[in-house]
This record gives sequence, C-alpha cells and structure tokens, in this order.
Amino acid sequence: MDQTKWPGIAGLVASTTLLCRSTPVTFAFDKPVHTSIAVLASCACAVIGVGRLLRKDDGRPHKGQHYDAVPLGDMTAQHNSTDASPSGQDVRYPSSLRKLRILFMVLVGALCLRVELLREIVANVQCATTTWETFIPFILALADYWTVRRHEKPYNVENLDSSVYDAFEDYWTHASHRYVSATALLSFGSYLALRTTSGPQSTYICATALPYHWIVPTLQHLGTLLDVVIIFCIGQLLHQREGRGQRSVVLRIMSVGWSFLSASLILASIGTLYYVMAEQDRKWIATIPTWYFWSTLRLDLLICFFIVCTTLCIYHIGVLSTSAMATFVATASTTTAYTWNNPHPYPHPLSGVSFIAICLVILGFATYLLVDSGDNKSTTSGPRIFTRVPSWLYVILLTLFLTRTTLWASHKTAVAYHPIDILIYDAQTRHETYRRQTSSSQNISAAANKYAERYGRLPPPGFQHWYAYATARNSVVIDDFDSIDRDIRPFFALAPEEIRERTWQLISNPWNDAAGISIRDGQASISPNVVPTHRWMLDGLVEMISKFAEFLPDMDLAFNLNDECRVAVPYDDLQHMLSRASIETVDEKPKANHFSEGRVEQWKPIPEEPMQETPLHELSWQPTFYDFGSAGCPESSPARSHRQWNVGNTCTACTHPHSLGAFLANWTLAGNVCHQPDLANLHGIYLSPAAFKASHELYPIFSQSKVHGFNDILYPSAWNYIDKAKYAPTTDHPDPPFSEKNTTLFWRGATSEGVSDGRGQWRGMTRQRFVHLSNPINGTGSPQPLLLPQAPLKEGMHSHAQHTYHPLPLHQLTDLLSTSIHIVDSIARCAGPDCLTQAVEFAPLVPATDFQHHWRYKYLLDLDGAGFSGRFLPFLHSHSLPFKAGLFREWWDDRVQAWQHFVPLDVRGQGMWATLAYFAGVDGVVAGREVVVAGREAEGERIAERGRNWAGQVLRKEDMEIYFFRLLLEWGRVTDDGRVGLGFGG
Ligand SMILES: *[C@@H]1O[C@H](CO)[C@@H](O)[C@H](O)[C@H]1NC(C)=O
Ligand SMILES: *[C@@H]1O[C@H](CO)[C@@H](O)[C@H](O)[C@H]1NC(C)=O
Repeated sequence: MDQTKWPGIAGLVASTTLLCRSTPVTFAFDKPVHTSIAVLASCACAVIGVGRLLRKDDGRPHKGQHYDAVPLGDMTAQHNSTDASPSGQDVRYPSSLRKLRILFMVLVGALCLRVELLREIVANVQCATTTWETFIPFILALADYWTVRRHEKPYNVENLDSSVYDAFEDYWTHASHRYVSATALLSFGSYLALRTTSGPQSTYICATALPYHWIVPTLQHLGTLLDVVIIFCIGQLLHQREGRGQRSVVLRIMSVGWSFLSASLILASIGTLYYVMAEQDRKWIATIPTWYFWSTLRLDLLICFFIVCTTLCIYHIGVLSTSAMATFVATASTTTAYTWNNPHPYPHPLSGVSFIAICLVILGFATYLLVDSGDNKSTTSGPRIFTRVPSWLYVILLTLFLTRTTLWASHKTAVAYHPIDILIYDAQTRHETYRRQTSSSQNISAAANKYAERYGRLPPPGFQHWYAYATARNSVVIDDFDSIDRDIRPFFALAPEEIRERTWQLISNPWNDAAGISIRDGQASISPNVVPTHRWMLDGLVEMISKFAEFLPDMDLAFNLNDECRVAVPYDDLQHMLSRASIETVDEKPKANHFSEGRVEQWKPIPEEPMQETPLHELSWQPTFYDFGSAGCPESSPARSHRQWNVGNTCTACTHPHSLGAFLANWTLAGNVCHQPDLANLHGIYLSPAAFKASHELYPIFSQSKVHGFNDILYPSAWNYIDKAKYAPTTDHPDPPFSEKNTTLFWRGATSEGVSDGRGQWRGMTRQRFVHLSNPINGTGSPQPLLLPQAPLKEGMHSHAQHTYHPLPLHQLTDLLSTSIHIVDSIARCAGPDCLTQAVEFAPLVPATDFQHHWRYKYLLDLDGAGFSGRFLPFLHSHSLPFKAGLFREWWDDRVQAWQHFVPLDVRGQGMWATLAYFAGVDGVVAGREVVVAGREAEGERIAERGRNWAGQVLRKEDMEIYFFRLLLEWGRVTDDGRVGLGFGG
C-alpha cells in the first residue's frame, strides 16, 4: 500500500493536466447524464479493481496511514519538539457503523445531485460564469481550521537569535491559520488566473428572457459546494481509523468504489424510467454516434485514472493536500497553455492581471508545501506530502514562474498598425494579381492553352462558342474558372452512365426536392413533377439557359430546390476520387470537338408515377455538423475530433488561423470549417436546417450556394438573375453619394436561418446573434472589443499610432456607434416556447421596409439565411458599403476580394463593433477618457465604389450566363460516354 503514494501523486499530476487538455473538446457533454452514468460505473470498477489488487499485494497486516506520517529524522528538531502532535484519540472521526452508513448515503446522494446539476449547467453553459471550484482547497482548509487548528496551542518562537527571515518563516509555518492563508492565496490566485485567461465571452445568446442567466451561476456554485461535500465524504471514508470498525485500508478504498457504483445505478434506473417516455432519447441510445462513443471512452479512461490516483492521494496525503495539488496543476496547466497560444494583443488584454494571478498561485502553492512539510501532525488534512520540500520542486516552480514571466514580457498589448490598414492594402495586391491572371489570353488558342495548363485537360467541346459568347459580352474573366473545376473534377471518377443514373434518381422522386431541367435539341424545358412554389426559380433558369442552349448537348440536370446544400462526400473518399479523376482527365490529342451522338437515348425518361426510392438521408430540424458539415475535413482536423461544447467562450484557436486580431483576415479560410469545430453551434445550417436531405455519395446536384465540405455544383442563382432582390433606387428611395448617407450599420431580416423547435437552437444562429449583439436593451450581452489609439490622434496620424483593444459593454458601444439591426414582423421558423422567448428577447420587432430603403445607409450588414443571402449582389452594386458575415459561398467567390470590394466579418461577430468603429470613427468617453478617433470614411467609400465598379464588370447578368454556359459545357463533357479525348483542340 505504501509504495502507492508516489505513483498516486505522479498520476494525479499527469491526469489532471491531461483532463484539463481534453475536457474542453470532448463530445462527452453532448449527453452529460449518459456520460456520467458510464463514468461513475467505470470509476467504481476501477477503484474496486485497484482495491482488490492491493489486497492481493498486501497480504501482511498493515499499519495504516500512520506509516508515512512518522516524523523522519531529518526534520528540524526544534520544531518537532515544540509541536506536540495530537494522538489519534484527539481527533474525532466518525467511526461507528452508523456514521459510516450516513457518510456513504450522503456521498451517493451528492453524486447523483451533482450529475443533475452538471446536466443543467451544460444545457445552458453560455450563461456560466467563472467557476468557484478553485476555492475548494480554501474551504477545506477553513473546515480544518475550525475543527482542528484553532484548538492548537499557540506557537512560541523560542529561537530568539534566528534571523528575521527565519522568524517570519517560523511564524508562517506554525501559525494556526497557516493552511488557511496558503490556500487562500492559491484559491484566489487561481480564480483570478482562470477568469482572466479564458477566451473572450462568445456571442452565443444567454437570453435575458429566460431565467438561466442567474440560475446557471447559482447551480455552478451549488455544484462547487456539492463537490466539497463529495470530497469531504470520500476523505472521511478513507480515513476511517482502525478502531471498532476494523476496516482494512482496502475495504475503505472499495467503499468509495461502491458509492460510485450505487450512484451510477440510481441514475441509470431514474434514466430508464425517463426513457420509457422520451422517444427522442430512446432513438439516440440505439444509434450512439461513433464520435461520441470514442471521445467519451477516452475521457472515461482518463477520469478513471484520475479518480484512482485521487483516491490513493487522499488516502496518503489527505483531502486538503490533494485538492491543493489538483487546483495548482489545473490552473498552472490551463492558463499557461492559454497564454502560450495567445501571445497577441487580442483577445488577451489583461496579461498583467493574469501574470499577477499566476504569481499568487505559485506563491500560495509553495507556501502550502512549506507549511505542510513543517507539520508533523496527522489530522483531517492528512499526513504531509513531503517531510521536507525537495529542491527539484522549487526548481519546477521557479521554471514555471520564469516561463510565465517570459510569456508576460513578450506579450504585446498594443499593435503598431491598425490591422484593417494592412488588410486593405493586401487585398488590393491580391485583386490585381487575380485580375492579371484571369484576363491574360487575348485569343481563343491562347485561352485554350491556358485552360490546358490550368486544369490539365482539354477545354470542353464547343469551347469556341463559349469564347465567342464571353468576348462578345466583354467578359473580364476568361481564364480563371477554378470554382467550376473544383465542382466538376470529382465527377470524372464516376462513369458517365453512373452520373446519368444518379441524376435520374434525384429528379424522379419529388420528395428529393430536386427539379429536373432537360435540354433537348438546343431547347431547355422543365421536367414534370415540379412543385409549383419553386416555379419562379425554374423559369428563371430556363430563361438563362435558353441564351446559350443551342450549343449544349442533350442532357438532364438536377437542381436543388432547397436553400441548404445537399452532397457531402467524406474527405477520404473525395481524395480517392480526385486521384482517380486526375488519371482520367489527362488527354493529349483531341479526337473530336463535338459531343457524342445518340445522347438523347441515354437519359432515362422521368416516370409519370413518382418513384418512391431515395438515395438521400433526411436531417431536417436536426444538428448536421458531425454527420455532414465536417465530413469534408480530414479525420485528424479539429472539426472531426473536437467538440467545443462550451459555447460560452469564443474559441480562439478556431478564429486565429483566419483572423488578424479581432478582424477577419482571410475570407476563404474563414469559410473552411476544418479548423473551426465551434461552428457546429453557431449557424442555422449546422444547428437545425429547415430542410436537409443530403447524401454522402457524389450525387450530381446544382445548388445556388454551399458551405465548405459540400460537393454540390454551384451555378448563378436565378434569384439574382431575375431580380428577386434588385438594386433599383427610385426618387423616393435614392442612392445618394456615400458621404451623404446615414452613418449606421443597417440590417432587416427574418429568423429564417434555421428552425428553432423548442430546443433553443436560435441562441446560436448567426442572424439572432448579430441582432443580439447590437441591441443591448434586452440583454446585457458579451463585452466587445474596440481597437483604439493609445494617445489622442492628430489628423493624418492614423497609421503610426499604437492601438490597444478595449472590451466594452454593449450599452456603451451603442452610445458610441450607430446600428439599426432588427428582425422584421414576427418570429419565423419557430415552435414551442422558442417563439415567445425570441419575440421577447428581440423586441422591438419592426415592420418590414422597402428593399430600396437600404441605400440610405452607409453600412449594410449582410448575413446568411437558410442558404446564401440574395441581397449581397444588389448591395455590392450600390454606393453603400456591405459588411458580410457568412459561411455560404456562391459562384462568384473567387472573383470578389474581401476588403477590396466588401468588408468581411467573422460569423462569431467578435469584430463587428471594432470594424464599424474603424470606418465610422469614435467620439465619446471610453474607459474614463475622452476619445476622438476620426472615421476612415474615405476608405469606406473607396471600398464601396470599388465593389460597385467591379460588380458592374464581373457580376452582371451576362457574367452569370457566361459562367453557366461554361459550366454546362463542362457538364456535357463529363456526362458523355466518349469524354476521354473529347474537347476543343485550339
Ligand atoms: C487564405 O488562406 C489560404 C489557405 O491557407 C491561402 O492560400 C490564401 O493565400 C490566404 N489568403 C489571404 C487573403 O491571406
Ligand atoms: C440614421 O438612422 C438611424 C437608424 O435608422 C436613425 O435613428 C437616425 O436618426 C438617422 N440619422 C440621421 C442623421 O438621419
């Protein structure tokens, strides 16, 4: 038994560190009660198992815990002689069987209650506050003081000729409040350190219309109290003296295991009763997702290891020392990792405070060790850890201190340039590069060569018609159609007849929400079976295709009638397909510059009677991120392996790759979900899409927009082509020059991003979060940063001033900057309590405005809906400056450059206010000082005008036709039996 002390302590340190690393990204909290039942049961088995092992090892009778506590000779003799150790009889332990039973029952009850609290807290974790768990050592020390220490004889310093330092040390290590003081330092320091180094509060909504904003913090603190009770009970069970009970050490350890098992059984039986009623959960348990299973298993094993080590530690060194050690290790490892990973001015402006906090923690822990080793009594606090603190431990603490000092010293709190200045400059260069490479070919053979060079295959048959069509319409974009290549290329891995068969499967069953368009003899027509509500869309498509249909081969096309995208091929399959596709596409000499004969017979007719089979899997109103959203990411990427269950914090590791400070720096990368597991809770398409019928097989479906990881084929939306939302200023609603517009960020829209059916999904949706972010009347919301110059600025000095981030409460931001971001009419796509809650939370709902009213404002916010936002192109055509936040990407994504033609925002919203402040300027009192920063309106106007000009060149209706024409030629080839060698030969 005694040889388990050091392995136990080492295990505690290791498992605490590992737990702190893996808990924030585990899937286990998807189902906190299920997880807890499993974890309690397996911990019970582990503890009982270890107990049995120890029993086998320890055949001989044992001396119990006193063994370690025997003072060793190397102690400073004077201290020991004066410090009378209370003998076993002095300390009151409950040793009767009855007391034991009570302890056991309290423990089981506390465990069950704790699990329920955990469930409540996790369900509304965005309302959580900094935990009080770090005060557990302090509370235990207070209890220890109350029961034991205050009865101690006061310590007299008798060694009068000792130095001041020695006297001080003597006093500290012998004062009766010594444990209390040491743990107070440790606990308070840890609290402060955790508070200042958690990620910034997220924009996930903690509704003021619901009571959770006060319930959850209360439950958290209650949970901390329960933890104290649990730890206390375990301590008491383990430290049962061999008195009347004559319980061996092993039996004591096993009793802890039995209490876990009982709690697990009780919870499981309550759970079973509940399941008889809850159908949803019954279904879940029958199909446990693999990611949940493996993630929970990993966490489970780690917790078992942690519990076994903790049990051994409590037995050997007592609850107080164990909790102090765990608190120290947890705080030091989490805050150091965080500080290490966030060396930038954003999001960590309080580096000084957190440095002081960690110094307190180190000091507190060192004091604790010193106090503990100077103590030779065995009391509730248990025997000491060390008889004398070894010097290597001081070296470790010193190393930690020096590391943190270095991190603190190297942490930059100010930025020399405003990041947006850099981003705008950079965007211009990128745009020029794009422009140069896309319009370099001056004639058709140059264009064909460029094509072959870029895409490694010949241009499709009929390329000469396309070229003539494009140049006749002055297309700026001639060479760069990478998005078409990205969408089409995987289909070269499918046989043409397979593609035709799959198209037929999609359009022959109306349930699939896919409409067919047939092209026969140069005429486009709509297939039968189409739902009338989507008629406008198909009419628009036919209108667009008719412009160039004479050059197209006979074929059928399946168009997605839903806003949501449909096909997500898993990453590994797609890589495999792409490698097969590249073998197939290489062709040296063209055999023919026309499509094969007899294509018309190859397309099966659409049956009169709709088919019943479907290849699609429905997930409407369900979370889709792990089934479909992240399918396009590598297995090892965070999107596949991490779950950011704590929606209350902004995940800085997720935003960092595509951000510069609080600002979005890389629009393309921001659309890539692979490094952003937190998006699972931040967008309607992932939380609860209104209609989601999708496949993991590569089905050929044409969609207007898609999010990352989907393999739909993008085409220019009929919504914009037939002007469902149109830039058409009138005399009532003119589009004045930028400088005459109202300096307000404006948005109107409906809650149509996804369905909130009573399970509160709305709290994570982008539209709702942005509305919440700009309307603090109903909610306190999370503070948002502004980047402000440190010293008052003179005109024209912008770029060289030092800037610092200031997190400000929302009500202060709305005083400084003007926004008008509201939901119109009534709450849409909701059910159950979510309708009323949203109506209260987002009050006032405003009447809808004329679309042309937008041009009155300088800054127009554009947010994703259930799919792409149809308003963006009209916004771009106007003199106003669009601010765009979204994950959906459309056909034009390569053409338009963020920061050159529009202002990008992160869907998390964290940079919204700071970005607005850059353009609109700030004039008011911030953090007690008068701040006047002139807005960069000239920059804003430049971007607005550049966007307008560029849209007039590459986003015209002609450009939509040109894109679509080229896409359908490519599609004609990929569905052609003779596709190898088919092409335009230059
Ligand atoms: C964005 O990131 C991608 C991928 O990492 C990179 O290729 C591209 O150059 C970046 N663009 C910008 C604007 O930084
Ligand atoms: C600008 O628009 C906001 C929001 O609609 C409005 O409150 C404000 O009065 C307008 N300011 C001016 C100068 O018209």
